[in-house]
Amino acid sequence: MSKKIKVVGIAGSLRKDSVNRKLLRIASELLGDEIEYKEIDISDIPLFNEDLEYPAPASVLRIHDDVLEADAIIFATPEYNGGMPGVLKNVIDWLSRPLNESKVKPLVNKTAYIVGGAAGMSGTITAQEHLRAVLTYMGMFVLPSNRATVPSIFSNLDENGTLVLNELALGFLKQGIHRFVAFTEALLDNEA
Ligand SMILES: Cc1cc2nc3c(=O)[nH]c(=O)nc-3n(C[C@H](O)[C@H](O)[C@H](O)COP(=O)(O)O)c2cc1C
Repeated sequence: MSKKIKVVGIAGSLRKDSVNRKLLRIASELLGDEIEYKEIDISDIPLFNEDLEYPAPASVLRIHDDVLEADAIIFATPEYNGGMPGVLKNVIDWLSRPLNESKVKPLVNKTAYIVGGAAGMSGTITAQEHLRAVLTYMGMFVLPSNRATVPSIFSNLDENGTLVLNELALGFLKQGIHRFVAFTEALLDNEA
């Protein structure tokens, strides 16, 4: 694999101290230097409205271009009432549309890896299943298995608010990221 893989990360929370953004950053650091990585800021994305699509708002075109250029996406999703939060679904709805001149839908045929941490004991498992179903519907290849869930995530914050994963969770995340990169490489090799 000669091409440098480009990965973007999206945290499905607007909260300043989002634990899912912290989890996303830990996951992205595990990608290693061989991978180009960029975190996408979704804080200024308006609610989807078909009346706003052409031309789409500048903030939407910015994330649209970032995702279009990427080979793969890591999603860190909170769990809201058993599903993904509305802000994340809203971003996916924008990204499902062919907004620029190329008319390409930026999520299609790319790989995805889902991670998530929640206050509850399910650790985002139902939100992850919800997100997986939507991404698969969109034509993404979501890494099978290796669901990285962090139950009771607030108990993993140290006195400075830093997220510290235990050995088991970190090992599982490392394995997931390793498989995600291999999964992405295999897809890109297949397309070459
Ligand atoms: C509207 C709402 C619904 C929630 N539903 C769930 C839930 O179904 N399961 C759960 O474990 N936690 C639930 N929580 C708690 C979240 O796990 C918690 O707010 C978490 O911090 C969100 O992640 P963030 O820090 O990345 O925003 C809910 C929180 C909100 C505000």
